[in-house]
Amino acid sequence: MNADRSATPAPTVVLGPAGRPLEGTVRVPGDKSISHRVLLLGALAEGTSHVTGWLPAVDCQATLACVHALGVRADVDADDPTRLTVHGVGLDGLREPADVLNCDGSGTTMRLLCGLLAGQPFFSVLTGREALRRRPMRRVADPLRLMGATVLGRQGGQYAPLAVQGGALRGIEYPMPVASAQVKSALLLAGLYAEGQTTVHQPGPARDHTERMLKAMGAPVEVHHRTVRVQRPQAPLRPLGRPEVPFRVPGDISSAAFLVVAALLVPGSELVVAGVGVNPTRTGVLDILRAMGADIVVENERQADVEPIADLRVRFSRLRGTHIGGALVVRAIDEFPVLAVAATQAEGETVVRDAAELRVKETDRIGNLARELNKMGADVRPLPDGFVVRGPTPLHGAEVESHGDHRLAMALAVAALIADGETILRGADVVADSFPGFWDTLSGGGRA
Ligand code: S3P
Repeated sequence: MNADRSATPAPTVVLGPAGRPLEGTVRVPGDKSISHRVLLLGALAEGTSHVTGWLPAVDCQATLACVHALGVRADVDADDPTRLTVHGVGLDGLREPADVLNCDGSGTTMRLLCGLLAGQPFFSVLTGREALRRRPMRRVADPLRLMGATVLGRQGGQYAPLAVQGGALRGIEYPMPVASAQVKSALLLAGLYAEGQTTVHQPGPARDHTERMLKAMGAPVEVHHRTVRVQRPQAPLRPLGRPEVPFRVPGDISSAAFLVVAALLVPGSELVVAGVGVNPTRTGVLDILRAMGADIVVENERQADVEPIADLRVRFSRLRGTHIGGALVVRAIDEFPVLAVAATQAEGETVVRDAAELRVKETDRIGNLARELNKMGADVRPLPDGFVVRGPTPLHGAEVESHGDHRLAMALAVAALIADGETILRGADVVADSFPGFWDTLSGGGRA
């Protein structure tokens, strides 16, 4: 495939069909969710966390800058930007930031920080890109107010900038209206500072990285099915990793998904994506693709610190449509753009329901996905809480737009691999939000 690219990613790339199968073994960058958390949790430890496999993407750089602004030293290795050390300041060591905290485009940064800052005896303001300032924030602000924090935002606390006056918090019992790991994590972070117990009931299986990491650090976290409890630790939190054995961030299954689908769709492909996180709260994409007839084998499952990892062997497959709803949606929430691309090549209808959350991700991932894929000849019909894809439809090159959404950009790039003719992707540089090196990995056909 021809990706017109240079060292600095171009805002527009011209993409052609794959030309050859995807083969060999490839690695993907570190997990974005875990990379944010090693910074925020490492900052609260007493001692230095040593991390390898960290994701040096734009979103995580935003968290890094915020952590610096809170008076924490965190250093990315100059020779290897996936190596990170975080000099923890302890639970009570954060300092009031002198300026607003810029979360750039990262919802995880804003929502998790909002929870953490609610417990601090100082004032802070969180802001970010226009798209982030349009995303719903009352889902974190409301429960944090119940805990005793003052969180103000535009339109009654719904939108950033958010002003947080933290202070003495009390634990609450909170049934989350949406199965959101960002909200759950924000409340657990606030719960570390609250008097009494903080209990969160989840309506679905939201990713559990925060719980796993907090437990490894010695925090009193209990998990019973979908209920999570935390209270203020009696002892200092232990750092993550040691100099000789750093804490390992697994490869991001959400990034791997683009290569997995590319290998499923490009005839003759057999690709191994190695070292990918296979936490069961994240593997919905594999379950969905397998239900569609995909040949994906999970090999060498092993443990990387607190997370299971594995190698994914993927072979070109004939796919069929499927119906997706309920808890499975939560376990695959970031993968719907690329799953829709897979569905365009599947025999029959793929129906996604219970996924209204897709409307408030980096963009409206239902409307924009349908609009852009249909320009390439797909048959995607948006629904209020999902979409229907009728397949298989041959795709053709077109001029398409990322809408500033990294996962939409990468999904369209995968579609271009199987499209006839040239695809012009506008706003392509946004892939750097989560997957630096995406263009090289994709055009390397698995030999990155
Ligand atoms: C994330 C949680 C999910 C996910 C996002 C990362 C996290 O969001 O979509 O990309 O790291 O906690 P929600 O919590 O809003 O579902």
